[in-house]
Amino acid sequence: MERYFATVAPGLEAIAAEELTQLGAKSVQTGFSGVAFEGDRALLYRANLWGRTLFRVLMPLTEFSCTSPKQLYQEVRSLPWQTYLTPEQTLAVDCTGKNRALNHTHFSALQVKNAIVDQQRQQFGARSNVDVEHPDVRVNLHIHRDRATVSLDSSGSSLHRRGYRAAVGTAPLKETLAAAILKLARYSPELPFLDPLCGSGTLALEAALQAANIAPGLFRDRFGFENWPDFDATLWQHLKDDAKTARRDTCPAYIGGSDMDDEVLEQARQNAAAAGVLSQIEFRCRDIRDIEAPSDRGILICNPPYGERLGDVQELRSFYRLLGDIFKQRFKGWTAYVFTGNRELAKEVGLRPARRIPLSSGGLDCRLLEFELY
Ligand SMILES: C[S@@+](CC[C@H](N)C(=O)[O-])C[C@H]1O[C@@H](n2cnc3c(N)ncnc32)[C@H](O)[C@@H]1O
Repeated sequence: MERYFATVAPGLEAIAAEELTQLGAKSVQTGFSGVAFEGDRALLYRANLWGRTLFRVLMPLTEFSCTSPKQLYQEVRSLPWQTYLTPEQTLAVDCTGKNRALNHTHFSALQVKNAIVDQQRQQFGARSNVDVEHPDVRVNLHIHRDRATVSLDSSGSSLHRRGYRAAVGTAPLKETLAAAILKLARYSPELPFLDPLCGSGTLALEAALQAANIAPGLFRDRFGFENWPDFDATLWQHLKDDAKTARRDTCPAYIGGSDMDDEVLEQARQNAAAAGVLSQIEFRCRDIRDIEAPSDRGILICNPPYGERLGDVQELRSFYRLLGDIFKQRFKGWTAYVFTGNRELAKEVGLRPARRIPLSSGGLDCRLLEFELY
């Protein structure tokens, strides 16, 4: 059993903990922007392959009190780095968090990098080169108050980069956030799903991936753990084969996405094709004013524009009012969700939300509002 830590967007800790528990994680504990858990190597691989709401899965190597750059350097240099990487492999160090003595993440990351390569030079007379984009081994430093944690990043690049999305609309949701919104909305594949403002289709696509039981990690080229010395290629292949077998060919219920912008819809179609779910989603070019419910019950989730420019506000107010009217008049029997970064605009929907769930998107404080439509 190893101890791991999955990083997630703030607000998604509980939903990620649920997901990890379902994957078989033990001693699951939520923290700020992350979830600590225990498991074996198979679980580590499964969390990377199946985790829909996780950014990265880290394997902590050490945690220590850290109140100066020198202390950080010495602690990192005392770790057995030859166990984790060879001088031929490239390296990157990410840093999150700061304290009084280490208040520049870039500088802190540099201390860690120097400690590792100095040790390598002394031991092997050679050192790892730095590759910030596509390193063989990614090391993570997290500083919280006077504690520092040094971890290996088993994911490599963030897991929200599923690999199916080449094309993005103007304000796309992160795939991990879209997956979490669906879980918070208690989406289940037996329920019809509609996003009438779908943009590049992130919500509809993530719904289709869940409905067809497709592991989101199947689209990625590479994970960090594949470069670790203890990488078990047979186990990994086995888990990927299992995931391919688990896939359903058809989704049990309707999944639809519409938008009035034909260009972003084309992106949505391309993304759905790359994820192999194009035939499972009905994409239509439609103004929301012309929308009708495709069935007498279901889940509608949308992420309306919330406007950065001041001049938009009046127009957006009437748009949110229109949303409320459409929900009330045409979606009786449905549950509707609005995800927005503008709470004033949200009030214009004019319906009483059954739930208001705080979430964050790109550092912006957002809300997911639930409306039961009778
Ligand atoms: C914030 S974006 C949605 C982004 C989407 N969630 C994604 O991940 O790509 C809002 C979308 O609403 C669409 N939209 C705005 N007004 C609309 C209307 N009246 N009818 C249909 N779509 C509309 C825009 O074209 C835009 O794609």
